[in-house]
Amino acid sequence: MARAIKIFDTTLRDGEQSPGCSMNIKEKIEIAKQLEKMGVDVIEAGFAIVSPGDFASVKAVAKTIKNAAVASLCRAMPKDIDRAYEALKYAQQPRIHTFIATSDIHMKYKLRASEDEVLETAINMVKYAKKYCSDVEFSAEDASRSNPEFLFKVFEGVIKAGATVINVPDTVGYTVPDEYYNLIRSIRENVSNIDKAEISVHCHNDLGMAVANTLAAARAGATQLECTINGIGERAGNAAMEEIVMALNTRKDFYGLASKVDTTQIYAASQLLTKITGMKVQHNKAIVGKNAFAHEAGIHQHGVLANSSTYEIMTPESIGLTTNSLVLGKHSGRHAFESRLNELGYTLSQEQLDKIFENFKELTDKKKVIYDKDLEALIQEKAIEV
Ligand code: KIV
Ligand code: ZN
Repeated sequence: MARAIKIFDTTLRDGEQSPGCSMNIKEKIEIAKQLEKMGVDVIEAGFAIVSPGDFASVKAVAKTIKNAAVASLCRAMPKDIDRAYEALKYAQQPRIHTFIATSDIHMKYKLRASEDEVLETAINMVKYAKKYCSDVEFSAEDASRSNPEFLFKVFEGVIKAGATVINVPDTVGYTVPDEYYNLIRSIRENVSNIDKAEISVHCHNDLGMAVANTLAAARAGATQLECTINGIGERAGNAAMEEIVMALNTRKDFYGLASKVDTTQIYAASQLLTKITGMKVQHNKAIVGKNAFAHEAGIHQHGVLANSSTYEIMTPESIGLTTNSLVLGKHSGRHAFESRLNELGYTLSQEQLDKIFENFKELTDKKKVIYDKDLEALIQEKAIEV
């Protein structure tokens, strides 16, 4: 039996911090509804104190969403927490998400505060947030570069103060999978009251390892995974939701974990976000890129035509696509070529096929991709009667 794992989506908060990705209220509501439809557990709707627009968006999402918790980020400060709750109070399941940095580098240069001061603030602000709502998430910003002993102390203190979720962000995308796995295990082993809280992980992609780190943490016992659609987010982005969810689904045999996300909504979510932000995903992006289910090489096309599992570990339908695509190019072989002609309504004899296949190959040396109109032109040029 697979262990349930929660998905916390922060497309509307950390994702929106991606340069050029800001969204208006209407757009945020559209995304939030799609996230709800997908079945994510938590939607982080924004950072309420940041601007009147962000406040209004958090409030509107809180009023709209019925089947997921709605969170707002806030610094560990009373005025931030007040503002967050003012927007969140309309939600059926409000969550205050407060944070403070715990690494030496952040405490010294950003906060100019000692460990004792940070610990005291973290505990007091969780207590303060608890006056408003029962669900309080505490994030130790830059956790992966923090002194583990101090981190354990902070987590123990905030859980005692009532935090229901403790988050272990890899804020600057610095950690690597084995190290992050060990960190999560050590938190489980050294924080005496850890069984009273969820363990959440939040990874950035500066070294291209956000998803790998998230999955390593899931194996180590994290119970909530934070991510964004298409992996948008600060700098190189956040862990991509579609990659996490499909990795857990496709390799359930290995991870033994199950999220509630309806994977058939993944492609629609990716497309919606692209349409709204104008930020395109690269063609070779895992799961949702244009080429993720496209095959060009003849050997691959032959295999896929015989049985798609030869070269596809997931079906296109599992993410909401209707079909894979066989792209005709210079690596394509006769099987794919003939199959496409059949789809276009041409049934050719072996002799006709031989004649036209030769011309097709010559054309592939001149053009990267051969489209249907090129095939039609070849048929007409060769005056093939079909
Ligand atoms: O990356 C980070 O540390 C964050 C926290 C504020 C959760 O986004
Ligand atoms: Zn972040």
